[in-house]
Amino acid sequence: MDSAAPRIVLVGATGVLGTAIIELIEELGIRHREIRLVASDRSAGREIPVDGRLETVRSLADFDFAGADLVLFCTAEAVSRRYVPVARAQGALVVDSSGAYRTDPDTLLLVPPVNGHLLERPPFGVLAGPGALTVPLVRLLHCVEQYRGVRQVVMSSYQAASAQGRQGIEELLEGSELALRDPDAELPADLFRPALAFNVVPVAGRMLESGASTEEQRIEQETRRILSLPHLDISANCVQVPVVNGHAAAVFVEAALPVERAELAALLAGLPRVVVHGDRPGAFPTPLTAGDPDRIHVGRIRVVPHNPRAFWLWLIVDNLRAGAALNLLQIAEAASARRRPGAGARLR
Ligand SMILES: NC(=O)c1ccc[n+]([C@@H]2O[C@H](COP(=O)([O-])OP(=O)(O)OC[C@H]3O[C@@H](n4cnc5c(N)ncnc54)[C@H](OP(=O)(O)O)[C@@H]3O)[C@@H](O)[C@H]2O)c1
Repeated sequence: MDSAAPRIVLVGATGVLGTAIIELIEELGIRHREIRLVASDRSAGREIPVDGRLETVRSLADFDFAGADLVLFCTAEAVSRRYVPVARAQGALVVDSSGAYRTDPDTLLLVPPVNGHLLERPPFGVLAGPGALTVPLVRLLHCVEQYRGVRQVVMSSYQAASAQGRQGIEELLEGSELALRDPDAELPADLFRPALAFNVVPVAGRMLESGASTEEQRIEQETRRILSLPHLDISANCVQVPVVNGHAAAVFVEAALPVERAELAALLAGLPRVVVHGDRPGAFPTPLTAGDPDRIHVGRIRVVPHNPRAFWLWLIVDNLRAGAALNLLQIAEAASARRRPGAGARLR
């Protein structure tokens, strides 16, 4: 047994993000002394294989966090809000995936390759990861900011059903099957309204009085905060599309100085876990064909002919893996290393 490795608790272990975390812990060989899986009463007693052993899922309602070093919350906001303080009261390092703490000034909202330096001064409050599109967006914009400065960003997203968790995937698949059988069938529309099957829905999250959606507001706020550019002119337009998993986005960036296309492509391609796809027909990435789910996939980089400071790019991110799970594990590793030198941060 590795006595320097953390005892990990994964809350929300039965959800789509929790499942992606388990896969990554196994695939990347993330060190741990033990791992406890926690979910709702509905899943208590289920057994899930982790590293070749069957782990029994426990109920959060009566779970005791004593002895845990690291607790990862992959739960909805209301659940995180209620139980994150319980885990912290037991002294655990807590990393939350939900929106519950992201705007809290005492919370560190982190994408470690961009603002991991904020972890230099423990002790920490709650550590949070941003939404799945913010992660690739800030990774790429951070590079552009250092290269030519960023003046304006306009992002249009095409977001997958898995952003709404396991139920979101089920609703899309059920609706698609029904619609194929009977084009006049009434499709389930609990999470997506109107139904997402064979449709495009121009709202993600709730609509605000301003006409923007909460998802659009969230991406704008998170991007400014993580890049430490509080006045960044950024505007997002978020659309849900009938794709099971994998977000896409078209991103327009205006830099402060003229941009050279090949130079920009080479810079982005040099970033850890970023792939720039070629220009030949069909080479651009899509949610189905992008490949490695732990990388950010970029294509169609093109400078605007009438404005050499501006360019477009197309990005694809697996919203569960590179967009969320990997970032949460990077936060956990970097923070653990700060707290307990020797725990080691290896994920880049
Ligand atoms: N999906 C994404 O692409 C993505 C990306 C970034 C961040 N996030 C955030 O990650 C969080 C989890 O999302 P998800 O997509 O994995 O959702 P999900 O598939 O619906 O999973 C939710 C998890 O929470 C558990 N849960 C529900 N109610 C609970 C309760 N009262 N007590 C304890 N556990 C409870 C569920 O357990 P049961 O199975 O027992 O119900 C399940 O394990 C959300 O805050 C989401 O915003 C998701």
